[in-house]
Amino acid sequence: MTCYDITPFLLQEPFNAEPPRPALISSYVTPVDFFYKRNHGPIPIVDDLERYSVSITGLIDNPKQLFMKHIWNLPKYNVTATLQCAGNRRTAMSKTKTVKGVGWDVAAIGNAVWGGAKLADVLELVGIPKLTSVTASGGKHVEFVSIDKCKEENGGPYKASIPLSQATNPVADVLVAYEMNGKPLNRDHGYPLRVVVPGVIGARSVKWLDSINIITEECQGFFMQKDYKMFPPSVNWENINWSTRRPQMDFPVQCAICSLEDVTIVNPGKITIKGYAVSGGGRGIERVDLSIDGGKTWVEATRYQNAGIPYIADDMSSDKWAWVFFEANADIPKSTEIVAKAVDIAANVQPENVESIWNLRGILNTSWHRVQVRVGRSNM
Ligand code: MTE
Repeated sequence: MTCYDITPFLLQEPFNAEPPRPALISSYVTPVDFFYKRNHGPIPIVDDLERYSVSITGLIDNPKQLFMKHIWNLPKYNVTATLQCAGNRRTAMSKTKTVKGVGWDVAAIGNAVWGGAKLADVLELVGIPKLTSVTASGGKHVEFVSIDKCKEENGGPYKASIPLSQATNPVADVLVAYEMNGKPLNRDHGYPLRVVVPGVIGARSVKWLDSINIITEECQGFFMQKDYKMFPPSVNWENINWSTRRPQMDFPVQCAICSLEDVTIVNPGKITIKGYAVSGGGRGIERVDLSIDGGKTWVEATRYQNAGIPYIADDMSSDKWAWVFFEANADIPKSTEIVAKAVDIAANVQPENVESIWNLRGILNTSWHRVQVRVGRSNM
């Protein structure tokens, strides 16, 4: 068995880390140890589960304080969902022009089986029926407020929101999760309760839940209003007007080769090209195209989720919210650039160049993924 180390960027707080590329694709369900960690403040310690509670407040008639027993009593769902940081692949974007943010390679992403109650069921406990878009008192958004404190909020809690229509739709599979891969969440990933919003950038899946508020406008917190928004390349720190753009929710179609580093030295002959592809909003992956000549010609890669079971995008047999792995073998006679691009079921395709989607915060780098392969003497 290969041993990998997860790479912490900073030994001090906040703790951020991602695994090496090969470790990321060593299994379809990412082991907790290899799951990226993204924090904006110190990781809080919740050590008294009996006393821990989540208050549900805001525009509702009967605010409630829910304890773990209330959440455990609701029907439990296991949802296999890929969480991806909006900053995944930021390092590559910063090579075009400097961007602000933690430098990630391609592994600020992971796929877990999240266990917990559906948020739609939790909200029913305070009298909000399923499939509600607006409450009688005008509530349209559901805000999640955390226990951890961060400097961007001037020492206040991390927070985010999603629309009430998504929160109360059981099909959206939004969870108040207490398990990750069959075990209680660990501290890094939000023990004892976190929200998991499948198909949406990781920033909205709030960890260490403290309260849920029903509000009129979307959350006014820093990470909804002054961060995690996609601006055009023309916007810089002098002319930015944050209010002109909406908070990013679904992530776009994405893929990355993980069996090769950029640059990899190989012996002439056959190599395996393997990686992940995923799209937001529950859109399946229709195709992954690979090129071994820098994007001049293409072949289609094999896609799968669970080994041995053919993957059919948008089929009941597939995990709707989860990534797919792709794989192909190729003959590499000479040094070249290998490229991957994915297409989702809405026929959304990754953009060719990072320059066209460059943005000052370096988010959503979904440009074609390229790795340089040099044919020579290798130790592989
Ligand atoms: N929730 C809290 N309370 N504090 C945080 O810093 N980071 C968010 C989100 N939820 C964050 C949070 C971001 S930006 C991401 S990408 C995911 O958590 C990362 O989740 P993970 O660390 O479990 O991988």
